[in-house]
Amino acid sequence: MAYIDEAFATNWIAPLGKNVTEFENEMCVKTGANQAIAMSAGTAALHMALHYVGVGRGDVVFCTSMTFAASCNPIVYEGGIPVFIDSEPGSWNMSPAALRKAFRKYPNPKAVVVVNLYGQSADYDEILKITKEHNVPVIEDAAESLGATYKGQMTGTIGDFGVLSFNGNKIVTTSGGGMLLCKTEEEKAKILKWITQSRDPARHYQHTELGFNYRMSNICAGIGRGQLTALDERVAKKTEIYNTYRDAFSDIPVDMMPVCDYGVPSFWLSCMTVRGCDPVKLMEALEAENIESRPIWKPMHLQPFYEGCDYFMHEGDVSKGIFETGICLPSDTKLTQEQQNRVIEIIKAQF
Ligand SMILES: Cc1ncc(COP(=O)(O)O)c(C=O)c1O
Repeated sequence: MAYIDEAFATNWIAPLGKNVTEFENEMCVKTGANQAIAMSAGTAALHMALHYVGVGRGDVVFCTSMTFAASCNPIVYEGGIPVFIDSEPGSWNMSPAALRKAFRKYPNPKAVVVVNLYGQSADYDEILKITKEHNVPVIEDAAESLGATYKGQMTGTIGDFGVLSFNGNKIVTTSGGGMLLCKTEEEKAKILKWITQSRDPARHYQHTELGFNYRMSNICAGIGRGQLTALDERVAKKTEIYNTYRDAFSDIPVDMMPVCDYGVPSFWLSCMTVRGCDPVKLMEALEAENIESRPIWKPMHLQPFYEGCDYFMHEGDVSKGIFETGICLPSDTKLTQEQQNRVIEIIKAQF
């Protein structure tokens, strides 16, 4: 509230102001990123990363299949052709083996969008080994993984570009917003110009490039600054929620989303797959008690809109299997022990 009040008191509501600059600076300090650009949405940040690397009509872009549609929709905004990559069972994230297969058929994609699913990093050493061989830029979709690390490094800073989301359901929210993390001042300057309508430095309104209206407001940035101070506490709470489910479900036929020893997840959502039971039955049992749960993201290669797009599997269709047997459990940081116990009881009663 103090940050927002200050924005009103100084009459810097939008689009510029101290909160925007400070939110970017504070995010750089928190994540170790070189540069940060606050935007109106994570989707906008993904769009600008793809625009920067020059995706155009007919260009192939590889993307994790098991994700939210916002990871790949901006490829289509630019006229690109998404090619989807399966997950590996050990991390639920992009399979390096499937990625290699994709490169065999399409040796020159314009970019690779790698998603860190549900708060866990993908295996970047393996992925970057492949993308470097082909000299292709990596856009790291860290919308769900702010606060998670990969080999000690904060997610969002590993790819050539990193995307954060502050949508209402994320671990840090600005009510709606996003951020692009990048490496150089030149990248930041170019993208800042594009997202503020590409005005040339002239007295009149002059444009030599296509512009976008993607900047974050000073009010939203104020919310973000306050929220960011709670990040560590929220990661700790999300970790506790995951561990409680894991321990409680150790005697029923379910498998929690695996935790890889190459990093520390933020546990944005606690997810699991079930054996010998339809996950819809669990969701309905929870719903009957007014408790919300969700299916796992339906992979993009199974979406009607992306029908016909090429897809490279790991060994068998791993993401389809996780989608068909998976469930996202209630994971909000406001969840009380009592409430979580009720969720656990209802689920265990189904086995
Ligand atoms: C993996 C992933 N990518 C991108 C986005 C898009 O972010 P935003 O809603 O801020 O546009 C989201 C969430 O909304 C997401 O979960």
